[in-house]
Amino acid sequence: MNIILLGPPGAGKGTQARLLEERFGMIQLSTGDMLRAAVKRGEPIGQEAKAIMESGKLVPDELMIRMIAARIAEPDCAKGFILDGFPRTVPQAEALDAMLAASGKKLDAVIELEVDDAALIERVVGRFTCAKCGAGYHEKFKPLKQAGACDACGGKEFVFRPDDNPETMKARLKAFADQTAPILPFYRQKGLLKTVDGMASMDHVQAALVSILQ
Ligand code: AP5
Repeated sequence: MNIILLGPPGAGKGTQARLLEERFGMIQLSTGDMLRAAVKRGEPIGQEAKAIMESGKLVPDELMIRMIAARIAEPDCAKGFILDGFPRTVPQAEALDAMLAASGKKLDAVIELEVDDAALIERVVGRFTCAKCGAGYHEKFKPLKQAGACDACGGKEFVFRPDDNPETMKARLKAFADQTAPILPFYRQKGLLKTVDGMASMDHVQAALVSILQ
C-alpha cells in the first residue's frame, strides 16, 4: 500500500506514520526528517535547506522532487510507503503522479488530518525527541514516563527543533494554507482523499486511519 498523510505542521503525520509503519510494514518517508538528516551531515542539500526550514518557508520543489524520486526508487519502498511531508505543493503532487506512473506504482489513499491552528501551535511548541533513538515526545500529550530518560532507550539528551516556536509556526501555517492546501482538490478529484479528525486522541486517530486502510 502506498499512502500520503497530509496535514498542517503538528497535525500528527509523523506520529501516525510511525504507528502505521509498525502495523502494516510500509516505510515512513518523511521529507522533513530527510532534510534534517542532510543538515546534520553537512550535505549540500542540507546547507541549502537549513535557513529556509528555520524560516518556516518551503524548500524549492525541484530539490524536494529529486530527493523523493531517489528515495522511492530504493528497494525497501517496494513493500509500500507512507509519504509524510510530501507532496506539499501542486507541482510536487504532479511530479509524484508522474514518477509513480513511470515505475508502475499507484497511490491507494491520501489522508488529511484536520487540526485547529491553536492546537497545532500547542503541539509543536511542546514537542521534543530523544537525541539517541529519535523517539518522539510532548511535554503535555506524550510525556516521558521517567523524568529525564527516554522510555525507549534510556537516552538522557533531547532535541527541540529550531522551527518549533510560535513565530516560525505562523510562517509554517501560512505556507500550508497558501501552498499545500491547494493540493487537496487535486486528490479529491481523483477520489483518493479521506479526511480524519486529527483533534481526537492519538489512539482514536490511529483507529480511524486503520479503518480506512483496512
Ligand atoms: P516537516 O518535518 O515535514 O514538518 P511539518 O509538516 O511542519 O510537520 P511536523 O513534523 O511539524 O508535524 P507532524 O504533523 O509530523 O506532527 P507530529 O506527529 O510530530 O517539515 C519541516 C520543514 O522542512 C518545512 O517547514 C519545510 O521547510 C521543509 N520541508 C519538508 N518537506 C518539504 C517539502 N515536501 N517541500 C518543501 N519543503 C519541505 O506531532 C506533533 C506533536 O503533537 C508531537 O509532540 C506529538 O506527540 C503530538 N501529537 C500528535 N498527535 C497528537 C494527538 N492526536 N493529540 C495530542 N498530541 C498529539
